[in-house]
Amino acid sequence: MSNTLPDIQLVVRPGIVELGWGHPDPALLPADGLAAAAALTFAAHGHSALAYGAEQGPGRLLTALSERLGRLEGVTPPTEQLMITGGTSQALNLLCGQLSRPGDVVLVEAPTYHLALRIFADHGLRVVAVPGDAQGMHVETARTLLQILRSRGERVAFLYIVSNFGNPTGASLAPDRRYALATMARHEALMVLEDDAYGELWYDAPPAPTIYNLMPAGPIVRLGSFAKVLAPGLRLGWMLADPALVQRCVRSGMLDSGGCVNQFTAHMVASFIAQGQLDQHITNVRNHWRERRDAILAVLARQLPAGCTWNPILGGFFVWVRLPPHLDTQALLPRAEAAGVSYLPGARFFAEGSGQHYLRLSFSLLPPQALELGVKRLGAVLRKAC
Ligand SMILES: Cc1ncc(COP(=O)(O)O)c(C=O)c1O
Repeated sequence: MSNTLPDIQLVVRPGIVELGWGHPDPALLPADGLAAAAALTFAAHGHSALAYGAEQGPGRLLTALSERLGRLEGVTPPTEQLMITGGTSQALNLLCGQLSRPGDVVLVEAPTYHLALRIFADHGLRVVAVPGDAQGMHVETARTLLQILRSRGERVAFLYIVSNFGNPTGASLAPDRRYALATMARHEALMVLEDDAYGELWYDAPPAPTIYNLMPAGPIVRLGSFAKVLAPGLRLGWMLADPALVQRCVRSGMLDSGGCVNQFTAHMVASFIAQGQLDQHITNVRNHWRERRDAILAVLARQLPAGCTWNPILGGFFVWVRLPPHLDTQALLPRAEAAGVSYLPGARFFAEGSGQHYLRLSFSLLPPQALELGVKRLGAVLRKAC
């Protein structure tokens, strides 16, 4: 019997240049290196890798991650502040369960990662948007909103922020705002979930210290993921938090029942790191994505009509394009797809439904020639619409 069910999330439609998907190019996934790491795992750690894992994650991966963060960032987190997750999506789901009750408020940037909004909705949370700009979230506005909400008796469960090369805008929180947010988190006893999915994918210079590193003993959780820097199908990430919160998560029913969320993969990634392959792989993908970033920015400048603007892109996967305000990118999408190019309409990234004249392009999936073709097609559609 032949299988007609999908094996993967990504759907590539014939004739359409897909600029909507923020997935890594399959050609950049390190299948050979991971195969070698899997073989080493079976040979040297088979028993442990196939057992129910320690709830916090295998000690050898926790130790390797702590050492690696110390080497790259100059701050070595104690392993009791670290735990292995099934990627940031799983970590967010777990943290919503631990930190919130239905009806609580979550503060997010406008715009923000649209699928985090889905997870918050799953938990019955009410999202309140804080405006942002090219320097990231307006932290002082977040403080004002927090005070208003609390004065009305509302419970604010946490603030969620993508601090580096955000999805969808590519913007990073400016260093002074990071400091202001870390300080506010401590003074106001506000939990901050710092989603750092893209921090290692910088193309010009490494980003400023994370909010977590500015206040490691504060109420800040940092979420890292192997989805972008290695492979999304691994379903693996990590979390840094106060040891008491790590213990709360480690003692959750799901981990008590099943042990580490992804024990074999965690071991395999530990072997990949032990073989010295992670840094090498990240340097390699950075070079590819830098080239694609340069290609898409160059063709955008040539092809998009006057009145369209975008931020400089220093890292991550996305270009956030602003069209003249009378254009609606949701309404334009069928025309773009008929012309052979797709994107994500901006309104999806705003919890409160604005952003109709923005669109998100991703340069992570396709090689430079395909990006150029896609943007040429988009330019033709926009020139007609303007
Ligand atoms: C900002 C952000 N956070 C989290 C995720 C998902 O992370 P993971 O694959 O580790 O669940 C994505 C994926 O697009 C993302 O853009």
